Amino acid sequence: MLRLQSPLPERYRDSSPEALDAMIAAAKATLGQRLFILGHHYQRDEVMKWADARGDSYRLSVLAQERPEADYIVFCGVHFMAESADILTSAHQAVILPDLNAGCSMADMADVEEVSEAWDALSEVIDTDRLVPITYMNSSAALKAFVGEHGGAVCTSTNAREILDWAFTRGDKVLFFPDQHLGRNTGIAMGYTHDDMRVWNPRLELGGLTEQECQDSTFLLWKGHCSVHQRFTPAHVAAFRAEHPDGIVIAHPECSHDICSIADQVGSTDFIIRAVEAAPVGATMAIATEIHLVNRLAAETPDKTIVSLDPLVCPCSTMFRIDGPHLAWILENLVDGNVLNRITVDPDTTAWAKVSLQRMLDITQGHPEMASGRQE
Ligand code: 13P
Ligand code: SF4
Repeated sequence: MLRLQSPLPERYRDSSPEALDAMIAAAKATLGQRLFILGHHYQRDEVMKWADARGDSYRLSVLAQERPEADYIVFCGVHFMAESADILTSAHQAVILPDLNAGCSMADMADVEEVSEAWDALSEVIDTDRLVPITYMNSSAALKAFVGEHGGAVCTSTNAREILDWAFTRGDKVLFFPDQHLGRNTGIAMGYTHDDMRVWNPRLELGGLTEQECQDSTFLLWKGHCSVHQRFTPAHVAAFRAEHPDGIVIAHPECSHDICSIADQVGSTDFIIRAVEAAPVGATMAIATEIHLVNRLAAETPDKTIVSLDPLVCPCSTMFRIDGPHLAWILENLVDGNVLNRITVDPDTTAWAKVSLQRMLDITQGHPEMASGRQE
């Protein structure tokens, strides 16, 4: 999806890190309680140090909702996260994404036109009243609205299993998008097999499947993936275990099933943070997720050895777009009364997207660990 971010003025492009820090600190002090800066776990340290709250994608939106006094929510994360925050916050709150080109390549692998076409094609061969659409949080607001309107729910990597359990009380098949890997890993953890699943390729007629395959499968998994998490391979696991026979491998469920099936533990960004905290002092752990989170865990947990499962760096290039210059530019403009890069979701989309988000909340109610974050 093309989103155009204009180049920054020289004042920000050419400033030293120290000068940028001074601009951000001064603007933050001036804006006070009117400003709330959210930092996703994958953000760089130069940005994260300014965050008022850190968390996973969903929890940050909830934290924004719980801060009605904040007029400006500066979301240091990616586009779908800022949209979710706009959906959940009140009209007077402006949600701002410091760089409009900070998208998510996985979220962009499914758009509402393609999903609507898939739904229509499936309605010719199966009973779509028994088909429940489930979208990962990493999706556009338009897709969340589609799901709300068609009786489904949003899920996160933390609560995917609980949401899928719910889906099978509503129907007997699931159309899961955009991440086939989260769908597959969760389905297999629930006791389903690869034979119960088919990949839906939106570029092919009827997703590249036969009518019989559509009828026989329980999971229709959208052909989408996260390129950051696809870098991890079983060879990385073997190399780590050869060097650290007692080492612990933790993988994010966006990794392929080849990795998740041999990892010691599998879970979301928040699960990974808690697993590192819970590991015994002296443990050596290899983490299969975005490098900024891994490096931060390594720095903040000196009594354990934390490494990336892939020894080569694997940053999320879109998360990486948010940096000190963009943050300073956004904040100084707010001080001057200019709200730049506001992310807004139209009222109709908001109404239906809220339905699918609210279903997720209702399903996971009473399980606060399903979506956690931390206030700084
Ligand atoms: P979380 O839902 O854990 O924040 O992860 C989002 C993401 O983009 C993972 O790649
Ligand atoms: Fe999207 Fe992958 Fe980046 Fe997460 S790590 S924001 S899924 S591209």
